[in-house]
Amino acid sequence: MSGSFTFHYGPQVTSGIGASADLAPLLPDGPVLFVTDANLRRLGLCDAALAGLAGRDIVVFDDVQEDPHEASVLGALALAREAGARSVVGFGGGSPMDVAKAAAYLLGSGERIADIYGVGQAKGQGAPLVLVPTTAGTGSEATNIAILTVGETQKKGIVSNALYAAHAVLDASLTTGLPRHVTAATGIDAMVHAIEAYTTKRLKNPISDALAKEALRLLRGNLLTACDDPENLAARDAMLRGSYLAGVAFANAPCAGVHALAYPLGGHFHVPHGLSNALMLRQVLAHNMPAARELYAELALVMLPELAEKRHLGARVLADAFAGEMQALATAAGLPKTLSEVGIGGDHLDLLADEAMKQERLLVNNPVAITRADARRMYEAAL
Ligand SMILES: NC(=O)c1ccc[n+]([C@@H]2O[C@H](COP(=O)([O-])OP(=O)(O)OC[C@H]3O[C@@H](n4cnc5c(N)ncnc54)[C@H](O)[C@@H]3O)[C@@H](O)[C@H]2O)c1
Ligand SMILES: [Fe+2]
Repeated sequence: MSGSFTFHYGPQVTSGIGASADLAPLLPDGPVLFVTDANLRRLGLCDAALAGLAGRDIVVFDDVQEDPHEASVLGALALAREAGARSVVGFGGGSPMDVAKAAAYLLGSGERIADIYGVGQAKGQGAPLVLVPTTAGTGSEATNIAILTVGETQKKGIVSNALYAAHAVLDASLTTGLPRHVTAATGIDAMVHAIEAYTTKRLKNPISDALAKEALRLLRGNLLTACDDPENLAARDAMLRGSYLAGVAFANAPCAGVHALAYPLGGHFHVPHGLSNALMLRQVLAHNMPAARELYAELALVMLPELAEKRHLGARVLADAFAGEMQALATAAGLPKTLSEVGIGGDHLDLLADEAMKQERLLVNNPVAITRADARRMYEAAL
């Protein structure tokens, strides 16, 4: 029936300054696998969370790189099995959270990682999982998705409701030390999640729409404050809530072309995920205009309420204002504008176009079909 939908709200949420210091009540008895990355550990960001788990048997796995490789999942899993872990904490940005999600699933289900890539392949029961994001962000704490690098360069997704965490803990105090370029890139990633959820061709639904709008309002209203005044807890809290809400939205109304074209930049050139999205956003918004103009116009009114007075100018003007505002935000936040600025030249266009075509899981959701020639043209325009 047209208009019918199903919706999954995701993990139970605990939000509050300092909430990450009190994870113990959220975990079952028994040893705990704590997944993070070496940078966060060196910064001491995990100290309060680990102190709050004192008295529990904890094994820490921190061998997680950006755009994490599936080898990290296997390493974490081996450590967990050796320690007899009964539950898992994922603490960090999308990279440690995604490793924790896959490791928790395999720990509980006993399956092999090669068998669970794709949509709906993981059908077993994972170990109890608590996710604590330190970027705002991927929204991974809210989603049923883990993105891993497989082989040399390909980014693959595991998408299954069995990956949902039991708990997500939103503690904005963890994010006040984020460097400006990470705040900016991850903030744009969160905005792209909301935009792609709102305009997705498949599974668009009214609950995701409401969440995406509120996410965009929060993220647009606080991104530059978080960049310019990093210790501003109110802005950081709003960013973290915005990225979480965008995560719930796109877990149910999936991402599309921007992510499909962004992933090859991460897989092959290690461009950070949020920046990859920012670099391709303008081209994909232009490509999608014919089908998504009305929806972009609606989002313009959410992000720029002052435009309400100009509503009579019509969808074309509002949608262009929306695309322009996204570009202006990324620039004001200090992000590079072109692929050339991140070291990608014209000789890579064919490789990128070929790789983007492999992101079928995402391409099927784009409001306007993207052919290989379209993808190549968009990469070229982004040079
Ligand atoms: N599962 C999902 O639903 C989903 C959605 C979008 C993206 N992703 C994936 O998430 C990954 C990107 O995650 P990310 O953008 O959060 O970055 P990340 O986890 O790779 O971290 C980026 C860098 O920021 C540092 N960092 C993180 N938090 C910090 C803090 N509070 N203070 C100082 N430094 C901090 C990290 O140590 C790291 O060096 C990619 O692999 C992407 O594909 C997953
Ligand atoms: Fe993303």
